Amino acid sequence: MYEKLEQSAKYIQSLSSTSPKVGVVLGSGLGAFVDKIENPKVIPYSEVPNFKSPNVEGHEGRLILGNIEEVEIAVLQGRIHAYEGYSMEEVVFSTRVLATLGIENLILTNAAGGINLDYNPGDIILIDDHINLTGRNPLIGPNKSELGPRFPDMSHAYHPDIKKAFLESARDMGSNLKSGVYAGLLGPTYETPSEIKMLRILGADMVGMSTVPESIAANHFGVKVGGLSCITNMAAGIKDETLKHEDIKEQALKVMNFFSSLLADAIKKIGSED
Ligand code: HPA
Repeated sequence: MYEKLEQSAKYIQSLSSTSPKVGVVLGSGLGAFVDKIENPKVIPYSEVPNFKSPNVEGHEGRLILGNIEEVEIAVLQGRIHAYEGYSMEEVVFSTRVLATLGIENLILTNAAGGINLDYNPGDIILIDDHINLTGRNPLIGPNKSELGPRFPDMSHAYHPDIKKAFLESARDMGSNLKSGVYAGLLGPTYETPSEIKMLRILGADMVGMSTVPESIAANHFGVKVGGLSCITNMAAGIKDETLKHEDIKEQALKVMNFFSSLLADAIKKIGSED
């Protein structure tokens, strides 16, 4: 496992001299952030040893290294999901490669359904915390101590420094960033209205099918995690409409400008901290 990580990291290092300090994972429909990356080196996942490619539309499958002003970054444009049939260990492999490359901060982004009735489609929400409802965990099995401890602390799964950076960036942009709890489910079905009622009672503000495994793997590795959800739709049963992946991608595109500017600005703050 560790050898595979090193092999992938070495291949990437042979193509780019970037030493990324901040990693980013771009969720469904949120790929246009890559236009903000300066001096981009684009590497398709299919070329990186041990990387799997996503099969879902809206997920590109490319690693981009470059910088936002002085901050060197590595961006995963597109992710694989457990609902595609991948194991949790496979799902978090690329996250661990970024950690092996030396990132100290990881920003996870996703498209999510809004459960909190104060949210609207198009809102960008800062992830305050998550609830793992996948019934799985990428750390199941013998612990690999080179990657992290057996029982990682998850009290600050979404790190206060990163939250602060996002809140300050949003404020500088004249915007009030709401925050909320992300419930991570396995999918691939969207939820039933009753499941959404249950999730609201459990304390979730939004729901999706990603992010939780990567957050766990990065926390295990000692990488600080932050997250943004794009509310692409209100979750099942809240409005009288059916949920379609096309509509979700379209809604994500509409908020791309704000999302990309917020992310770029926060990266500058996060990357300049010691
Ligand atoms: N549920 C789960 N995942 C999602 C949703 C949803 O309503 N919208 C976007 N991703």
